[in-house]
Amino acid sequence: MSDELKTFLEGLDSLARECEACKGQAASLNELEEIRVEYLGRKGKLAKSMGALGKMPNEHKPEAGRKANEVKQFLTSLIDGWQAELVRAQDEARLSRFDPSMPGRKPWAGSLHPVTLVMDEISEILVGLGFEHATGPEVENDWHNFEALNIPPEHPARDMQDTLYVSENIVLRTHTSPVQVRSMLGKKPPLAVICPGKVYRRDSDLTHTPMFHQIEGLLVDHEVSMSDLRGTLTAFVRQLFGKKTEVRFRPSFFPFTEPSAEVDISCVMCGGKGHKDGSTCRVCKGTGWVEILGCGMVDPNVFKSVGYDPEVYTGFAFGLGVERVAMLKYGIGDLRMFFENDVRFLEQFA
Ligand code: DAH
Repeated sequence: MSDELKTFLEGLDSLARECEACKGQAASLNELEEIRVEYLGRKGKLAKSMGALGKMPNEHKPEAGRKANEVKQFLTSLIDGWQAELVRAQDEARLSRFDPSMPGRKPWAGSLHPVTLVMDEISEILVGLGFEHATGPEVENDWHNFEALNIPPEHPARDMQDTLYVSENIVLRTHTSPVQVRSMLGKKPPLAVICPGKVYRRDSDLTHTPMFHQIEGLLVDHEVSMSDLRGTLTAFVRQLFGKKTEVRFRPSFFPFTEPSAEVDISCVMCGGKGHKDGSTCRVCKGTGWVEILGCGMVDPNVFKSVGYDPEVYTGFAFGLGVERVAMLKYGIGDLRMFFENDVRFLEQFA
């Protein structure tokens, strides 16, 4: 072996040993980086030793090159090892400052929105009575929302509903009743469906919001009578508000039912007495009753629009406002609270 090669190889060996001797010298990752640059950097010690490689006779180059690579790998893994140790030591130091006896920070737990809670409860009761879920679009056409429900153009009931129009023929559904129509179009009787969902009206004050929730019910079969409607709704209301709840049916008008009724229940606040703690009950205004839903026997014209023969089938329908039920159940005075999403309000239902 030529002297030149020998000197070169020995130089690399001593470089490796010199670097090894730096063990423990770096107290931080920054200091370690300085060592890395000193040995492995572009102008570092290894690069400098390798400068001699170019001037070496060709026959020595393979061995010299191999050795240089070996030393380079050795230095790299040496310094990487020190780095891993430094990182581990830093983590341990951080953990040793962690006091496991400190009380934890309680994570926020979400909960269901009161509207969802009441929707679920109502659905569960009605599914228990044999109704199936049905859904329909919130953007609805005039025919499903009005005409098929016996509300022709120019009918005064269209005014009552404060419709939000998307275009001349397309509306945001003003009630869940169009889902009745869609359900009947899709299936022959017997049929028992409930349709929960969002509805929209151009209205906003203490007791109205432009979007709110309804649940619609529909049952169609041979020989369905008003007493079936009464029995079903009485059972439903008593499961929802308690066994002692009184129920009364008050004659009313809806274009899609004949006869129609509104259902009142004995006031949930004063128990039907009309007064509480010596003053007039603020929920029923002293009447002892609160209205909770609209209902009736499906109008023959509705059956005709969906191709059911009104001589063969009869049915009942009902619709209720979910927020209204939630207000009564939880004693909430302002409808807008449901949509402000104030956590102090919402977390009370967790
Ligand atoms: N669609 C009515 C409304 O939005 C509620 C309603 C009343 C639905 C009577 C019905 C019904 O199915 O029979 O005010």
